[in-house]
This record gives sequence, C-alpha cells and structure tokens, in this order.
Amino acid sequence: MSNKIRKYVVTGAGSGIGLATSQLLESQGHRVIGVDLKNAEIIADLSTPEGRSSMVDQVAKVSEGAIDAVLAVAGVDIAGPPTVAVNYYGALATLVGLRSLLLQSPAPRAVAVSSITSVHPFDQGLLDSMLDGTEEEALKIAKTAPYSYATSKRALSRWIRRNAANSEWAEAGIPLNAIAPGLVKTELLSRLFEDPETEKRIKAGSPMPLGGPYEPIAAAELLAFLSSESNGHMTGQTIFIDGGADVVLRGDSTW
Ligand code: NAI
Repeated sequence: MSNKIRKYVVTGAGSGIGLATSQLLESQGHRVIGVDLKNAEIIADLSTPEGRSSMVDQVAKVSEGAIDAVLAVAGVDIAGPPTVAVNYYGALATLVGLRSLLLQSPAPRAVAVSSITSVHPFDQGLLDSMLDGTEEEALKIAKTAPYSYATSKRALSRWIRRNAANSEWAEAGIPLNAIAPGLVKTELLSRLFEDPETEKRIKAGSPMPLGGPYEPIAAAELLAFLSSESNGHMTGQTIFIDGGADVVLRGDSTW
C-alpha cells in the first residue's frame, strides 16, 4: 500500500467495526473524520434526512471540501423502519452526499458495510420499494415486513452493483464496493446474543467453518484495503469476509 496520507470519512466510528477501522487508519498516519451518534468528531443521526444533510455539511466544513475515501459503516439491527433508515438510506446518503468531496481526490474510494444476511431470506416488496420507490413508502412497508435487516443489506449490495459502473462512480474514477461480514464480535452482536435462543438461531443462520465469529480488526483490514489507493480496479463487488458462510449457504448457485 502507498504511504501517502489520506483523508477518510468513517460513519459508525464510535463503536465496533467503524471504531476498529478508524483506529487502524489513524495508526497508519491517515486523517479520519468519524461520524456517529456518539463518540465521534461529527455527531449526526443518519436515520433522518436532517441528520444526513447535517453530516454532509459538517464533513464539507471539517474536510475543507476534499476527502479521499468514504466508509459507510454505521448500521443497526433492531427490526423495522430504523434499520431500513440507517442501513440503507443512511448509507446511500453518505455515499452519494459525499461524492462531490471525493471527486477532489486523485484516488477516491467508497466502501459500505453490507452483511452475510444480504444472502438470507428477504422481503421482496420492501426490497423493490427501497430500490425503486420512495423512503417514505419503504419505511411504511418496513413497519410490518419481515426480514428488514437482511432486506436492507441486500438492497445496499444491489444498489452498489447497479451504480458502480455508471458515470458517477466508475467513469468518475471512484471504485464503489461493499464488504459482507459474517458474525463480528461487536456491541451489535452482543445485544442480539443477550437472548440465548436468538444467539443459537443467528449462529445457525450464518455458519462460519473458518474460524467462527471474529474481532472487528479483520473487517477493518479489508475496509482499509478497499478504500486505499491500491484498490484501483475492483468495483461493484460485495466481498464476503464471513468464515465461509456464503459458500455454505449459497453453494454452487452463484457460478
Ligand atoms: P456497533 O453497534 O458496534 O457499531 C455501529 C455504530 O453505528 C454505532 O457506533 C452506532 O452508534 C452507529 N449508528 C447507529 N445508528 C446510527 C445513526 N442513526 N446515525 C449515526 N450512527 C449510527 O455495530 P457493528 O457490528 O460495528 O456494525 C457496523 C456495521 O457492520 C453495521 O452496518 C452492521 O450492520 C454491519 N455488520 C455487523 C455484523 C456483526 O456481526 N457485528 C455482521 C455483518 C454486518
């Protein structure tokens, strides 16, 4: 990797994967502008249109109008509208909202955090609404639709695939990718594992024969590569870092 100092925006920087990524990048000498509800340089709520536009304004100010990479990491798993609002619309607002600042960089990069659940069962109506409808409609559907977390992550990976090769991203020189972690030992997972039945169900739903649930630094290292200058030719991909869960779940069905 190049030793040049780069300016990164990391959402979800207050905890888990976002915190580990921020610390890793800072340890490499880079400048990180963290965004979160708490414990970050920029405090903004990515679940609301006001919070998202405040985030864009604050980043523009703090970065003096130029950044090298955006990492949309913030996410929640609390079923229903908040999950759709943060994981999909919050991530899109981060990627799209900061794109003009990225264009000032000689080596701009964008990465989002999807999930192994992007290949889990999902709700088709909610997915269609997220990809082709309005946020208002999607949030309404999310009140009753099942699988809102998995659907939000499927929509995010699909959106990246649909947009990565177009004039705003690839043709503008910006690789746009996602990572899909399996189970990562963060606060998000600990909260879910408070209920032993849920823990059993989640572990069975994402089997990880290679090493099992892992520490956030492993996901951080992949995010750091994808957002580095070295990644000049990979785009539109969702890279599974899941201990083999995707292989077990989807088997031969993809190639
Ligand atoms: P975490 O709970 O440790 O960190 C998530 C961060 O996002 C928190 O600091 C939280 O305050 C922030 N956040 C939540 N809502 C926000 C909002 N409205 N506005 C601004 N920031 C907000 O969780 P973790 O595990 O580090 O999650 C990071 C990403 O990784 C999420 O997108 C999650 O869906 C994804 N992921 C996590 C997995 C896991 O097993 N931990 C597995 C696959 C994906």
